[in-house]
Amino acid sequence: MTILLDGKKTSVKLLIALAEKIRPLNKKPKLAVIIVGDNPASKIYVDLKQKRAEAVGIESLIIPLSEDTSQEALLEHIDILNEDSSIDAILVQLPLPAHIDTSKVIRRIAPYKDVDGFNPINIGLLASGGIPSAYPCTPCGIIKLLNEYKINIEGKHAVIIGRSNIVGKPLAYMLLEKNATVTLCHSKTQNLSSVTKSADILICATGQPNLINAQMVKPNAVVIDVGVFRGDDGKLYGDVDFTSVSQVAGAITPNPGGVGPMTIASLLENTYRLYNLHKSFTEN
Ligand code: GUN
Repeated sequence: MTILLDGKKTSVKLLIALAEKIRPLNKKPKLAVIIVGDNPASKIYVDLKQKRAEAVGIESLIIPLSEDTSQEALLEHIDILNEDSSIDAILVQLPLPAHIDTSKVIRRIAPYKDVDGFNPINIGLLASGGIPSAYPCTPCGIIKLLNEYKINIEGKHAVIIGRSNIVGKPLAYMLLEKNATVTLCHSKTQNLSSVTKSADILICATGQPNLINAQMVKPNAVVIDVGVFRGDDGKLYGDVDFTSVSQVAGAITPNPGGVGPMTIASLLENTYRLYNLHKSFTEN
């Protein structure tokens, strides 16, 4: 029988445990989120992050900036948050408008407040087997979901489709650390089916609706669908054709209700992690 990897249920469990740790604290952890422009998907994500943060006792400061905000103005906002000792964690919601250099913005976030773990210092630590201040939220959520269902990673062939800085690349490093054999595929990969068919764990993060069908999946493989695509019909589609793939997979995430809630739980756990990091700076 195919196991449903329930991210919603697992995330609730993590959030309850996190709320327990936060409840006795006098000063609550505080997360600042900058959102630039009116991207409807980004607005929905940020609202959800704020709602979940409140539910576990994390304070949030949402800074909405207009689409035409200059890069300099955005960098100044980050400088202020870096200096503000009441803020433990900073997130700049991506994507940013085209006139802003995303890598410059990410580099500006102090590594010890970088709740996404995207700053090159943190990614460099991750890539070189060190310990970053925070692990990127979506990869972190995926690993926690695999752990929850006791899915063995060591020695398995993990195939990731999508080489983004947000999901694919950091996930490759994290799975390598867990001793998986990792293949990272992308839009120029030849013969994608032959690669996906050899995956024990297949993670799809492309945003291409229903890219993966049952013929591309090894029987009993673990299939994780990170993709989010809103069709002209207004419906959300994942990368995986759930109806057909769930017939062959050993375990599969629903989408929605799989990786999404795990990403938010990881973000809030990361905020608490950075809060403790700052406490350790001031106590020593
Ligand atoms: N946009 C989509 N996913 C993410 C994420 O994990 N972090 C940030 N900052 N922006 C995103």
